[in-house]
Amino acid sequence: MKHDLLGLKDLSADQIKHILDTAGTMKEIVLGPNKKTPHLQGKTVVNLFYENSTRTRLSFELAAKYMSANAANITSSGSSVAKGETLIDTAETINAMGTDILVMRHNLSGAPHSISKLVDASVVNAGDGMNEHPTQALLDMLTMIEHKGHIEGLKVAIVGDIYHSRVVRSNIYGLTKLGAEVTLGGPTTLMPMGIDKMGVKVYDNVHEAIVDADVVMALRIQLERQKKGLFPSIREYFRYFGIDEQRLRLAKPDAIVMHPGPVNRGVELSTAVIDGDRSVITNQVTSGVAVRMAVMYLLSRGGF
Ligand code: NCD
Repeated sequence: MKHDLLGLKDLSADQIKHILDTAGTMKEIVLGPNKKTPHLQGKTVVNLFYENSTRTRLSFELAAKYMSANAANITSSGSSVAKGETLIDTAETINAMGTDILVMRHNLSGAPHSISKLVDASVVNAGDGMNEHPTQALLDMLTMIEHKGHIEGLKVAIVGDIYHSRVVRSNIYGLTKLGAEVTLGGPTTLMPMGIDKMGVKVYDNVHEAIVDADVVMALRIQLERQKKGLFPSIREYFRYFGIDEQRLRLAKPDAIVMHPGPVNRGVELSTAVIDGDRSVITNQVTSGVAVRMAVMYLLSRGGF
């Protein structure tokens, strides 16, 4: 039977911990001088991306190459997708070439789940619409563990465009399973109805959400997913919801600042905060390669 990673919703706390432990070992390889292991020798990994990406796509590709897999990328603009080929036909074509792991990003929620039923390859969800982005949440959790030693008992404040964020949904599943307290803050127009039922505290502002937080995670304002303005202006957004050094003082003195990227500088976070010593944004990027190595390795070995 093949195994997939479609979301953190379906994983147990133990499975998540197992991935994070493996990723911790993989991180030593990423930071070490010799980035070539035999973990995926003879396997083929294809990245199929229907949405733009810099760090997620590159880190899946590097993760595959560091483990000696054959790695290839397809993007919707340069492929037969632009000629009108359906997702199903594209996925079946990739599958027919001997692909072992299909990494997929798509603008429709649930697309990787449907494709998984049609292909023999293991499917990894690299972001589906506004649903989940499991490897992002895993790399966020690995980064938190490295800086704070544990997840249980941490207060994690996630602020910004909650509505359009697949990152927040995967983080809520993962963090609550591992015993963190999660608070959400942002404009009510960007707060999905009923999200409090996921076991999180919800505020219509940022300052209450970040009080005493160990981790402050800002999310990008996803202008490309908005048909109409859900807040008055970028300048006003920063004034009321952006994180600058003064607002950051509400969090714990040793709080870390995270952002999945790409950052709109001066919108979600001030430049001083992004480049300051509490920011762990570049460590998140490094953790991303390690987590993707762990996920693909474990999938090739029979799952989590
Ligand atoms: C996120 C995504 O694509 O969901 N980015 C990422 O994977 N690093 C968040 C975003 O685009 O804002």
